[in-house]
Amino acid sequence: MTRLFILIAAVFSLLAPAHLLAGDLARGKEINKTCALCHGQYGQGTPGGISPRLAGLPKYYLVKAIKEYRDGKRVNLLMDTTSGIKSMTDQDIEDISDYLSRIDVSKDSQFDIKQAVGDPEKGREIYKGDCKTCHAKDGFGKPRKEAPPLAGQHFAYIDSSINLFKAKMREHANDPEDETFDDYSKEDIRNITAYLATLDDKKFVAGGEIYVPQVTAVALAKAAPPTASKGLQITDITQTVAQMALREGVSKEDAIEAMMSKAAEINLKMVGQQHVSKELEARGVETPYLTILQFCDPMDARTMIVNNPIFASYMPCRIALVEDKEGKPWLMMLNLDMLINSKLLAPDVVETAIRVNQAMLDIMVAGATGEF
Ligand code: HEC
Ligand code: HEC
Repeated sequence: MTRLFILIAAVFSLLAPAHLLAGDLARGKEINKTCALCHGQYGQGTPGGISPRLAGLPKYYLVKAIKEYRDGKRVNLLMDTTSGIKSMTDQDIEDISDYLSRIDVSKDSQFDIKQAVGDPEKGREIYKGDCKTCHAKDGFGKPRKEAPPLAGQHFAYIDSSINLFKAKMREHANDPEDETFDDYSKEDIRNITAYLATLDDKKFVAGGEIYVPQVTAVALAKAAPPTASKGLQITDITQTVAQMALREGVSKEDAIEAMMSKAAEINLKMVGQQHVSKELEARGVETPYLTILQFCDPMDARTMIVNNPIFASYMPCRIALVEDKEGKPWLMMLNLDMLINSKLLAPDVVETAIRVNQAMLDIMVAGATGEF
């Protein structure tokens, strides 16, 4: 009897992990809301290179990559601090990876990969000689070699990855001794990315049940705010606005206090607060709650306007705390990604904009969670 029990228990323990780790698509979709701010609602990524395309990447690769960020093997502070990736369980990672791997954005022309500067012919020669054996002739990767697709990926991300490999800040080809990129010049790397950007992503889809987002910019712009029930949500609507619902149990006063403390901690000056609804109520006008907090670092402001006075229009950075029709409080701010992705910016301005965006996101996360 005991032996039979042990046998059954053993069989179950063998079955359990496999059973548990099947991806739950509904949960994956829910988790994706915290990824969407940077990677886009459909995992499409941003052409300017801030965040890579995740849609349609093979599940095995997504699982591996996310675990590497969670466990500290790959590091990206921007993502690590805002995405909740650090506290994900294996099951969460299965769910989000399953979901993302099934999204197919290849048929929607608005998601086409932008062409890159460089000589694609020269890039093709390098690719044929040095990359094809693992990433495949068509650029769709080889699961057998654990090499992900490069076709259908934004060129700026490919470029930044190659530079990380070259600087030994990320491991290429699962080989700590890898030397693939050691002797490549800037020009070579540019040519490779130019070639990869010409590869079609039509076949860039894992099998199974497939989502095809038939969206247009207009539909995206009209998308209703999500109905948030619990937890922290970061949502992307046209990628120009970042919004988060306050976590359940966090009051508006808690949120403001947390944001002020966070700002002080990271040396971002709070330069003003406009109590809009309070002012209206003082005039006897009934109104939903609205208050706007303003932040500014004079040195960052200087960097931006020295480059171009038009950046003064973004200042000071603002976070609004606002109630929707149901009385649910939200934090809203402009997402500087649009600005960061503009090709016209000088490198020091991009660096400043990324840092400011990150600081504002940190403040917003503190407000939404009440933690600082
Ligand atoms: C604040 C912006 C931001 C958020 C939010 C974010 N990411 Fe990222 N993610 C990035 C950036 C930037 C990179 C590129 C980092 C690098 O080069 O290592 C990246 C890279 C990745 C990669 C590696 C892709 C590849 O081809 O190797 C994966 C996988 C990923 N993110 C998954 C997620 C998931 C899942 C979430 C949500 C739980 C998420 N990210 C939320 C910014 C973000
Ligand atoms: C020996 C096999 C092999 C060769 C040859 C190879 N790669 Fe890779 N490559 C890989 C593997 C495996 C990974 C996945 C690494 C990981 O899991 O982080 C990878 C990852 C990458 C990535 C990152 C993709 C992402 O989504 O983050 C880029 C970019 C890349 N390779 C470019 C190239 C280029 C360009 C060449 C040729 C010059 C090349 N590779 C040659 C195996 C190879």
